[in-house]
Amino acid sequence: MAKAKFILGIETSCDETSAAILKQGPGSITVISHVVASSANLQEKYGGVIPEQAAREQLKSIIPVIQETFLKATEDGKSIEIKDIDSIAVTYGPGLIGSLLVGVETAKTLALIWHKPLVPINHLIGHFYANWIVPEKHNTPKFPCIGLLVSGGHTDLILFKDHSNYEFLGGTRDDAAGECFDKCARLLGYAYPGGPKISLFAEKGDSTHIKMPIPMTQSQDFDFSFSGLKTFFSNLVEKEFEISNFNPSNAQERWKRVSSNSLKGKDQYIADLCSTLENTIVSSLVGKTIKAMKKYNIKNLIIAGGVSANQRLRDKFFETLTREIPDFSFHVPEKSLCTDNAAMIAAAAFFSTTLIDPFRLQANPNLSLAK
Ligand code: KG4
Ligand code: ZN
Repeated sequence: MAKAKFILGIETSCDETSAAILKQGPGSITVISHVVASSANLQEKYGGVIPEQAAREQLKSIIPVIQETFLKATEDGKSIEIKDIDSIAVTYGPGLIGSLLVGVETAKTLALIWHKPLVPINHLIGHFYANWIVPEKHNTPKFPCIGLLVSGGHTDLILFKDHSNYEFLGGTRDDAAGECFDKCARLLGYAYPGGPKISLFAEKGDSTHIKMPIPMTQSQDFDFSFSGLKTFFSNLVEKEFEISNFNPSNAQERWKRVSSNSLKGKDQYIADLCSTLENTIVSSLVGKTIKAMKKYNIKNLIIAGGVSANQRLRDKFFETLTREIPDFSFHVPEKSLCTDNAAMIAAAAFFSTTLIDPFRLQANPNLSLAK
């Protein structure tokens, strides 16, 4: 039987500092250990990611995070050690340059001193490979497939013919889907990440009485646009409220009420607004993706990125695929692997044929999927 392979993954493209050790056995990829540290508390305080500050935090945490990953790495009671690692995978772009440099320079140094091959991974491609972390081979995605990446910075529709052979079909012309969630949440007084906050309000809301246009439904291409939706949302909020009502303490009080299911006053309107926003974003994403599947006659779908954790998006995809695409397969990562993490980076490396000389690897903040 072929020997199992172990890869150490490192991810630092935005504000997370993450390391993971994954194992590839016959037909399966499993997480042996995984650590994600984020500066979420700083984001709560300042309302978002401050690049310089994120990189400083990552510089402090990268070595402890990698150490902890090794400390937690055991299999059948036996420790997985540096000597067991076959290669090191690292995100080299896109992302914040200061943050990327922390991961890239650390990975280069470790590859040199430990004498391990170094695998550079595009963060956007890495997201999709969270779908390959499965215990059984028959659960892995099949090619050709359509891939939808929905994150805080990207909304990209891809046609994958095979590993490393893909065609970019379309992307957002302005804000990403996650960015729209984040900006609308911010308007309501909630810090990054806004998606889960909008979603909790949306769960308690009724979307039948507010009308929001679904963007780009008439366009013949596979592009998206979400900035108009954000403006529409903001106009509705302004029409209903004095914007000064949304000071942080109001927002926190309202959050407590919504979390404990004791809505009062204007809470219901906000929940309805969030529900309508969520449905509209979901309809736009699902509509274009299904259109691409039909046009290219593809039955397999993989989705990835922070927004793919959204339950309504998952449900709507499942419902629409069941109705419109016979014999479909649908893959979505487990929720903890939708947002940025090193496990997906290590998973991607099992399928990459690109190795790079550590002296030549450079972080590239502008890397994209569009050729
Ligand atoms: O993939 P990710 O962690 O980072 C980027 O590479 O951008 O995605 C973060 C994005 C944020 O915009 C966040 O608001 C969104 O994912 N997000 C969600 C949910 N969880 C995270 N959006 C909607 N519903 C969620 N449950
Ligand atoms: Zn990401």
